[in-house]
Amino acid sequence: MNNKVLEETIKKDIENGLQPIMVIGTAGDVSTGVVDNLKGISTICKAFDLWFHIDGAYGVPAAVIPNIKNLFDGLSEADSIALDPHKWLYCPLEAGCTLVKNPQYLIDTFSSHPEYYNFTKTEGETVQNYYEFGMQNSRGFRALKVWLTLQQVGRNGYQKLISEDIELSEILFDLAKKHPELKAVSQNLSITTFRYIPLNHKEGSDYLNKLNEELLNELQTSGELFISNAMVNEMYCLRACIVNFRTSKKDIKEIAEIIIREGRKAHSKLSKQKI
Ligand SMILES: Cc1ncc(COP(=O)(O)O)c(C=O)c1O
Repeated sequence: MNNKVLEETIKKDIENGLQPIMVIGTAGDVSTGVVDNLKGISTICKAFDLWFHIDGAYGVPAAVIPNIKNLFDGLSEADSIALDPHKWLYCPLEAGCTLVKNPQYLIDTFSSHPEYYNFTKTEGETVQNYYEFGMQNSRGFRALKVWLTLQQVGRNGYQKLISEDIELSEILFDLAKKHPELKAVSQNLSITTFRYIPLNHKEGSDYLNKLNEELLNELQTSGELFISNAMVNEMYCLRACIVNFRTSKKDIKEIAEIIIREGRKAHSKLSKQKI
């Protein structure tokens, strides 16, 4: 998020008679893992009386690590935060969740009391009916697996596991930086983006985009490794997002080796097609 442009856009909207209602910042961008300047966004939201939502679906759990905590300054100012425990809290799929500062807003919005409901009549007992917090009425007990995982792993466990994932991602970035057939593009949190570039390559970026796309399709269907993609500054990149506590240094080394091996094959195939 470019906060200067954000502020100018809000002002322009207001001048044009529009009414902005909320800003969504990102704590751990899908493609590259970048964290927005959340403190800056929060200041703008306060100045214009806007709801501040953060998409922290992937990245927010990293705020638990002391030496990168300051990346997340402003997190506590959010009105709501999207968090996916099935991503970096290592819970089984799926367990999407939203944290809200003031749950009363949810009740005011969603609560209903049809006459056939008799859920709140117990004398002297405060009852929490989750159907009043959202659109879903009957619901499965997803919270159990999240609670169990939090109990099992604990704060110290998350600090250790998440730090290890970040370290693995940094190792992959370094491998890509050092290898002449790989270009390291970005590394934030546990996401590394990079691309395969054939030796002595002289083609323009269209060819490299096509080559990396072909390579990714090959890799995804190979069953040997699953990697995803990201567009960064119009470059088609391979994207490794490490959110599995079983991933090891050996895996990371193998990822680089497989990509180089398959990259050569894909280049040999694609360059022949061009001729
Ligand atoms: C930042 C961010 N937000 C939202 C999503 C969507 O998550 P889901 O598919 O689990 O709903 C993702 C998925 O990668 C993400 O990284």
